[in-house]
Amino acid sequence: MEPDFLKVSIEKRVGCIRLHRPKSLNALNRQMIAELVVELERFDRDENVGAILLTGGEKAFAAGADIGEMAKATSAEMLLMDQFADWDRIRRVSKPIVAAVSGYALGGGCELAMACDLILASESAKFGQPEIHLGVIPGAGGTQRLTRTVGKKRAMEMVLTGKTISADEAFRAGLVNRVVPVELLEQEALKLAKELASKAPIALRLAKQAVQKAADKGLEEDLDYEQKLFYFLFSTEDQKEGMNSFMEKRRPDFKGK
Ligand code: HXC
Repeated sequence: MEPDFLKVSIEKRVGCIRLHRPKSLNALNRQMIAELVVELERFDRDENVGAILLTGGEKAFAAGADIGEMAKATSAEMLLMDQFADWDRIRRVSKPIVAAVSGYALGGGCELAMACDLILASESAKFGQPEIHLGVIPGAGGTQRLTRTVGKKRAMEMVLTGKTISADEAFRAGLVNRVVPVELLEQEALKLAKELASKAPIALRLAKQAVQKAADKGLEEDLDYEQKLFYFLFSTEDQKEGMNSFMEKRRPDFKGK
């Protein structure tokens, strides 16, 4: 079945996936993540694909998880929904994934980019973990992968203040591999993915696996911890206020309850 929220193609041994829900700035609803996992796993099995390219739109790679979908959920509902089971499957894709990021990569969007293996950013890219403005915390690796990548001080600033950083700042912090002009992003990202796809396929997979082992030591357990804290916050009034205020386009009034 054709995915509703993705555009998928193969170009010279590169499996290309474009997040496509432009009216919501590619907000990641659960269907979109489920579709993404299906396509990633399909490319992972396909011998004609050597590497994968994940991209979004010019204004947004993805502006985070779909807030409307989560706003009213309780902790128990979040836990039972187990949306992170799909995110875990992204981590197990064995071929390299290049993210091409233009515009907003916020919350789950930043986490999705970080779950990829290399990130190319356009000059317009903005990275951030704004969940604190919603009365929650990152839930799909934002506190863990970001800290491992940019270090404690920068991660603290981003996660605690919710402020975004520019593509240049992200480059200086080691969050992205390279920054390119907006109009060159897709061609440069495709060029990089094609280069990877031309390598010896088995060595490429094992190279990814070996680097992942070094970079992701203890990650599984730490992601689990983050998820539990994320779920817990859905039992607070502040989470309801934070997410409802976003939907109602007003400032939140947090009470610490
Ligand atoms: C649902 C979203 C959305 C989101 C944007 N939209 N982000 N809908 N979930 N995360 C919708 C808006 O409601 C709006 O719909 C349309 O997209 C355009 O957005 P605007 O806000 O009008 O655009 P703009 O003024 O340009 O502001 C862009 C923005 C802002 C700064 C990116 O949209 C924003 O702050 N978005 C939320 C970012 C965020 O908090 N992300 C973290 C989510 S929590 P209408 O219908 O009004 O046109 C998260 C947790 C991950 O990611 C946990 C693991 C899964």
